[in-house]
Amino acid sequence: MITASNIALSYGKRVIFKDVNIKFTPGNCYGLIGANGSGKSTFLKILAGQLEPDRGEITKGRGERIAVLSQDQFAFDEHTVFNTVIIGHKKLYKVMTEREALYSKTDFTEEDGIRSGELEAKFGEMNGYEAEAEAAVLLNGLGIPEEMRQKKMKELDGSDKVRVLLAQALFGNPDILLLDEPSNQLDLKTITWLEEFLSRFQNTVIIVSHDRHFLNQVCTHVADIDYGKIQVYAGNYDFWYQASQLHFHQKEAEGKKARAKAEELKEFIRRFSSNASKAKQATSRKKLLEKLTIENMPISSRKYPYIVFKPERPCGDIVLEINGLSKKIDGVSMFEDLTLTVNKGDKIAFVGDNSLIKTTLFQILAGELEPDKGSFRWGVTITNAYFPKENNEYFNNEELDLIGWLRQFAPPREDESFIRGFLGKMLFSGEEALKKTSVLSGGERVRCMLSRMMLSGANALILDEPTNHLDLETITSLNNALTAFPEVALFTS
Ligand SMILES: Nc1ncnc2c1ncn2[C@@H]1O[C@H](COP(=O)(O)OP(=O)(O)OP(=O)(O)O)[C@@H](O)[C@H]1O
Ligand SMILES: [Mg+2]
Repeated sequence: MITASNIALSYGKRVIFKDVNIKFTPGNCYGLIGANGSGKSTFLKILAGQLEPDRGEITKGRGERIAVLSQDQFAFDEHTVFNTVIIGHKKLYKVMTEREALYSKTDFTEEDGIRSGELEAKFGEMNGYEAEAEAAVLLNGLGIPEEMRQKKMKELDGSDKVRVLLAQALFGNPDILLLDEPSNQLDLKTITWLEEFLSRFQNTVIIVSHDRHFLNQVCTHVADIDYGKIQVYAGNYDFWYQASQLHFHQKEAEGKKARAKAEELKEFIRRFSSNASKAKQATSRKKLLEKLTIENMPISSRKYPYIVFKPERPCGDIVLEINGLSKKIDGVSMFEDLTLTVNKGDKIAFVGDNSLIKTTLFQILAGELEPDKGSFRWGVTITNAYFPKENNEYFNNEELDLIGWLRQFAPPREDESFIRGFLGKMLFSGEEALKKTSVLSGGERVRCMLSRMMLSGANALILDEPTNHLDLETITSLNNALTAFPEVALFTS
């Protein structure tokens, strides 16, 4: 069990939370939902004790262990895959390493003997003897083959790292499990495995996701962040959606009724205030009007950004010709002798299990990677813009604010209002445009990358998993923008 009491947190003028009170109980799986930038990751960090709120406190049951899906993909680079999983249970890992060091000693003293007895007892208490088997089951389920287990983390690609980190969080039956967007980098098969794992899991789970289907499968409750509050609903995502719509329409109808009533009273007062015979009635209606409180509808953080890709010129007849293209990554063939002609008006979805293949092809087409063999040619009328799946390297300079960041990609002649225009469309207006890129949430970074793409004026768009991290509203806007786009788009999703 974990409880949040009176939690409040603000950044400058922006209130993220005020007065959050929730008790999360074992046996339940809570889906933590909300718009990009509403504070989901922040709340998980507060629960995990990684971030201090301005006010309030977090309490959990005595001796309960929290496990967190680590967002830092590089933290375990020097560890083996297997050890990274065990590290999920810190105490166990400590005992395990001490025990191993002890047994590898050549001069085993009597003292060592006593110590080893203590360690064995602790090790057994924490199910240490089953640890290896448990780790293997988790890694198997998450699609990490046996030969990878002794590799160092730094040798793995992004999607494999995420799987290992997920195994780390799930390892050792934690009492409280916190997962921030776990399904993002996973293929469908692994997502199904995770759904089954979570439905068997007996303890407390709090999970952030934008994936409605996934939430419907695993959640017993939904915790919705909006209006600076967190509201818990019993039921899955679909249930939450219906309940919240109903609540919204009721509030709206109440507001409308109250406003109509106020108008009627005001009209009466206007007409009859100076009329001696009705003055009394007018006064009593004035009192009624004062009592009538019209609740302003609070403003939701769920908003649709305005995404529009405006090509500077239309595509000519020749768009893209790919001829006999081959590429190997770490000795593994991604594609061989790939030949493809892309025509005017084509919008092509690249599908398949292995995301690395698609990413490799896109990197070559965007000029970021050399093919081993073969060639490709963009038509002379074509300018392409590339949306990469991993955007870390675009945000290296943590000192830049959003205006400074987007300026890097704008023509030098353009002034600040031009840049602010693009940021505003992506919901960064006023002070929001002045925050540092280092504080951006996952979805906000994607919104920045999309504003960079809008600004490019390209007539061929290459998009690698653009909807990862995005909230439903932004996905809808992006869908509409791509449907309306009159030129060429190559994408994976
Ligand atoms: N130090 C800071 N100063 C100012 N703003 C901050 C700071 N840290 C975080 N923020 C802002 O707080 C908000 C909440 O961020 P958080 O990462 O919790 O969002 P989120 O709900 O997880 O979004 P996403 O769905 O995109 O992952 C964001 O708008 C972020 O830019
Ligand atoms: Mg987040």
